[in-house]
Amino acid sequence: MNRKVAVIGAGNVGASAALYVAERGLADVTLVDIVEGMPQGKALDLTQTTPLWHQGGRIEGANDLAAVRGADLVIMTAGFPRKPGMSRSDLLKANADIVRPAAEAVRQHAPNAYVVVVTNPLDVMAWLFWKVSGFPKNRVLGMAGILDAARMRAFIGMELGVSPADVDAMVLGGHGDSMVPLPRYTTVGGIPVAELLPAERIAAINERTRNGGAEIVKLLKTGSAYYAPAMCSVDMAEAILTDTKRLVPCSVHLDGQYGMKDLFIGVPIVLGGRGVERIVELKLSAEETAALQKSGKDVADMIAELSVGVS
Ligand code: NAI
Ligand code: 2OP
Repeated sequence: MNRKVAVIGAGNVGASAALYVAERGLADVTLVDIVEGMPQGKALDLTQTTPLWHQGGRIEGANDLAAVRGADLVIMTAGFPRKPGMSRSDLLKANADIVRPAAEAVRQHAPNAYVVVVTNPLDVMAWLFWKVSGFPKNRVLGMAGILDAARMRAFIGMELGVSPADVDAMVLGGHGDSMVPLPRYTTVGGIPVAELLPAERIAAINERTRNGGAEIVKLLKTGSAYYAPAMCSVDMAEAILTDTKRLVPCSVHLDGQYGMKDLFIGVPIVLGGRGVERIVELKLSAEETAALQKSGKDVADMIAELSVGVS
């Protein structure tokens, strides 16, 4: 029997994620969305790409969350992006109302699934999914660090005129303005980036990375980034389904690591067949530690705002 990936939300990120799963031949895909006909239509369109990938995976669409039944892995993308005039708090409440029933459905119909949460505000929604599903903490992860690091890698590659594939970068913290790019742990072909770029260029790249999502929203005007976010979520799915033990930043539950507890935030982990296999604790400078703590407080404040009514 083929593996099954359920993608909840068949919008820009969800449909692109389904395409990448099909392209890589990772699993059968079920796309679930509340808009009648839309996930079915996209699934049919995607099915017609499979001969061209030389892959035979099944792709189906559904409107009922029960269609996640038996999934080995769930990619949770349903939710609104932030719109002009919408406060962070409004988005928090609107998307929490979408995440709660999805997590309940996954608990009921796919009790053994691993979950990659994409919905924003990312760290809080990953925490909420984990809380409502009751799943062990190794099985629920948020996608953000891989994306933020991919953006930093792309910017450094562009700046130096080298392949971004040779750039390795690390970004910690919450997926928001206070994320913490770590140039000290960033290398190009194994060479520390500080040997190749002056401090002010590195500072500018850090800033562009922090605003990486907003820069694209400003250009698109009607939505947010989706190709890179979708591919990063499928990278995480692939690492879990094929047990590749990647060392990458993901938003995960902390239980005292980095001096934080009871929240989800981006830290380096070993990602493999058992989901979060290990959290890697880096030695941080005083300045890096302060920045990470500030980011942790931003996430904790949002969790506190949401916690009313969540036991
Ligand atoms: P989109 O608007 O294109 O798609 C969202 C889809 O969710 C829509 O098709 C909508 O019908 C569906 N939906 C709404 N309520 C639902 C429900 N109860 N059950 C099933 N489906 C439901 O938005 P897009 O661009 O795909 O983004 C999705 C989410 O991912 C947003 O919250 C966005 O902010 C977030 N995001 C997070 C990133 C990250 O780095 N973690 C990166 C990019 C997007
Ligand atoms: C991004 O970083 C909007 O979180 C989304 O592109």
